[in-house]
Amino acid sequence: MTIKKVMVIGAGQMGSGIAQVNAQAGFDVLLYDANQEAIEKGLQHIEKLLIRAVDKERITEDEKTATLKRLQPAKSLKDAESCDLVIEAIVENMDVKTKVFRELDEITPEHTILATNTSSLPITEIAAATKRPEKVIGMHFMNPVPVMKLVEVIRGIQTSDETYETIAKMSEALGKTSVEVADFPGFAANRILMPMINEAIYAVYEGVATPEDIDTVMKLGMNHPMGPLTLADFIGLDTCLYIMEVLYEGFGDSKYRPCPLLRKYVKAGWLGKKSGRGFYVYD
Ligand code: CAA
Ligand code: NAD
Repeated sequence: MTIKKVMVIGAGQMGSGIAQVNAQAGFDVLLYDANQEAIEKGLQHIEKLLIRAVDKERITEDEKTATLKRLQPAKSLKDAESCDLVIEAIVENMDVKTKVFRELDEITPEHTILATNTSSLPITEIAAATKRPEKVIGMHFMNPVPVMKLVEVIRGIQTSDETYETIAKMSEALGKTSVEVADFPGFAANRILMPMINEAIYAVYEGVATPEDIDTVMKLGMNHPMGPLTLADFIGLDTCLYIMEVLYEGFGDSKYRPCPLLRKYVKAGWLGKKSGRGFYVYD
């Protein structure tokens, strides 16, 4: 199946990155968010990154202009009716996601593939909210999307081979490497990454070391590009907590218990970089 036009839903840190890489790869893109301001902010952020790419001679001025032309704000979810692929990147909450997928199922033509960038939620359950479960799939990008090379492609139990092949090819067209992953809580990436981040938070909670020192241990001791607490702030502590809840509930194993300190920070509204405060303070 040929994909020409893509709608990205959610213009936060993931959605704006996903919209950018799609537009840079030559697809027409509509960017939608329930919050109009988020769309404007997302588009401004993309423009800033493209200007920087021109300055660094990674792309030409003409490529920047053409990319921005392919990237348009959507007025409403209904604009998805003109799209061959929808990639959803809204809040990590099953009820909110299934509501959007039910609406998309009504709005979009029969051939449209509905993909979700969920970090951990069951694709099979999201697909079951639609009448086209064979066309629903997980397309899990990594943050920051323009930089990270991986896309986890997650098949729900009903996902067809055709849908899988289209999305694996699409990921390549976006300059990414895709990996096929089965529909288990947290898939592969977050099943491995999040318990490490949660353990780092337990280490702070129990007074093993300061956040700075724990990050130094992992950066200088293990050559990680970012320490786990910096990374947690970067991902968003709300998203980290949602993912830990999915692992805890999905596997029923106490080893996935979210650290109480993580819960406390999220309750305080300390969501990391995006809210100005998490384990660190940001301007
Ligand atoms: N958006 C776009 N580009 C960005 C960016 C952002 N948010 N942050 C950094 N970059 C770009 C910079 O512009 C720079 O590009 P140029 O070379 O063109 O200047 C390049 O990345 C390197 O940036 P810096 O030199 O400023 O900093 P760095 O060398 O420390 O790299 C990093 C930054 C790539 C983010 C690196 O720290 C890193 O790889 N961190 C770990 C990221 C990671 O683990 N991501 C996965 C998170 S988990 C996930 O995504 C799954 C989930 O479901 C939660
Ligand atoms: P974010 O908070 O930066 O952005 C979410 C955006 O979704 C917001 O702009 C919000 O206004 C919008 N939104 C919420 N409900 C909506 C609705 N019903 N309709 C339309 N828009 C709505 O979040 P994010 O970090 O970009 O994460 C988005 C998704 O991507 C989540 O499922 C998350 O698990 C996943 N993800 C996150 C990361 C990460 O590192 N943050 C990495 C991979 C995947």
